[in-house]
Amino acid sequence: MSQYRPLSAVVLAAGEGVRMRSATPKVLHPLCGRPMLLHVIDALVALPLERIVVVVGHGAERVTKTLQEQIATEMPIEFVEQRVQRGTGDATSVALTASGFDGDGEDDLLVVYGDTPLIRAETIASLARGHRESDAAVTLLTAFFEDPGDLGRVVRDDDGVVDHIVERSEATPDELEINEVNTGFYCFRRGLLAPALRRLSPENAQGEYFLTDALSVLKQAGHVVTSVVAADSQETAGVNDRAQLAAAEAVLRRRINQRWMQEGITMTDPERTYVDATVELEPDVHLLPGTILEGRTVVGAHSVVGPDAHLVDTIVGEGAVVRQTVARESEIGDEATVGPFAHLRPGTHLAARVRIGNFVETKNADIGEGAKVPHLSYVGDADVGPGANVGAGTITANYDGKKKHRTRIGKGARIGSNTVLVAPVEVGDGAYTGAGAVVNRDVPPGALAKGVPAKIEDGWADEHKDDE
Ligand code: UD1
Ligand code: CA
Repeated sequence: MSQYRPLSAVVLAAGEGVRMRSATPKVLHPLCGRPMLLHVIDALVALPLERIVVVVGHGAERVTKTLQEQIATEMPIEFVEQRVQRGTGDATSVALTASGFDGDGEDDLLVVYGDTPLIRAETIASLARGHRESDAAVTLLTAFFEDPGDLGRVVRDDDGVVDHIVERSEATPDELEINEVNTGFYCFRRGLLAPALRRLSPENAQGEYFLTDALSVLKQAGHVVTSVVAADSQETAGVNDRAQLAAAEAVLRRRINQRWMQEGITMTDPERTYVDATVELEPDVHLLPGTILEGRTVVGAHSVVGPDAHLVDTIVGEGAVVRQTVARESEIGDEATVGPFAHLRPGTHLAARVRIGNFVETKNADIGEGAKVPHLSYVGDADVGPGANVGAGTITANYDGKKKHRTRIGKGARIGSNTVLVAPVEVGDGAYTGAGAVVNRDVPPGALAKGVPAKIEDGWADEHKDDE
């Protein structure tokens, strides 16, 4: 018999995470580009909850700010501060008192930990369902592990009913042999939780108030304590140190890659393909080994990226080829080819069919349709017109020691090898520069600039248009 009661959630995220040995609060360590705590919240907001209360403490301001910036949901999310971290039981009490969960309401409350980023919404839903179908005061999500390590062991009574949870530090040698563990996901009858929390005592090796002890308190008061076993124990893995962080990230990465392959992405070697949770890929993208896609990166249909391409917040159009390239905050147009060994720095916009070759660096540069910068160039603070060709070794000298200046290269212009364009400077449409020119004055359309410093010959292009 299933009974509907309103459901809310408390997320405990106040701990320092000492075992991480980090200046960053544990719950903000990213997995596949998204802070660990946000993965937990993502799973919760996928459920029909009344509200979510997050208990923050260590790095409270940073944690709160990160969540507020990165969570987009209509669901009310509140933050309460646990000033001193006295344990998971104390953190839960803080949530109940500070957020106005008062009275002995007939609603249900999920309590989850912010350091279990692999959990899926369906698994939390199955816990809530199990709870509603029983008449329990609390339902615990348990899991089986061959090596339960530091996890709390689930001790059952002779009838096989959950009796209590024992932390590793408190366990007897027999209890340490138990393979069923506390995952840290609970569903409580809220009205029964508050009085149970008041009866916790910190008489344990850590001197903390353990939320886990609330189960035995409820049981001893004659309430039903029940459990649901997680179908996939891996989902419940907690992250307490860097090794567990790497292991959890590997699981998440595999999940992300599986999903993209199902959506029509080819990965030559998924084990060597790193796609952040925030990245978007279109069908028939092909990712080669060593590709790292981060942040708000989007790759359009039929594009080939890699091997060894690292793109951050970069938009790639359709049918582009991006080999051995580092790009950040850039745009790569349809059918453009980039690399091998190119570096696109922020503000680079490559129009359709642009070609950027090896050992080319761009920054804050607009490169027009079909233009080519094939070899060994620096193009910074520049506009390159459609169809222009920038010869090998061309440098935009954009910095006079005080300020940055812009270079404009006109439509169809031909920049000779090793030209230095001393900005601010403009090379007109269809103009030419000779090899090795140092251009420090504007070159009119169709002119040739050659020599050091460059001399200008007006009308050069027209006079020579029949040469070929
Ligand atoms: C906890 C459980 C253990 C379980 C394991 C599952 C307890 C006592 N133990 O152990 O049974 O097997 O999780 O992963 O609950 N936190 C606070 N305030 C505090 C203390 C902790 O907000 O005062 C938060 C932490 O930020 C963390 C979570 O509670 O997100 C769990 O704390 P942690 O110290 O990681 O507990 P475990 O030792 O992993
Ligand atoms: Ca933990």
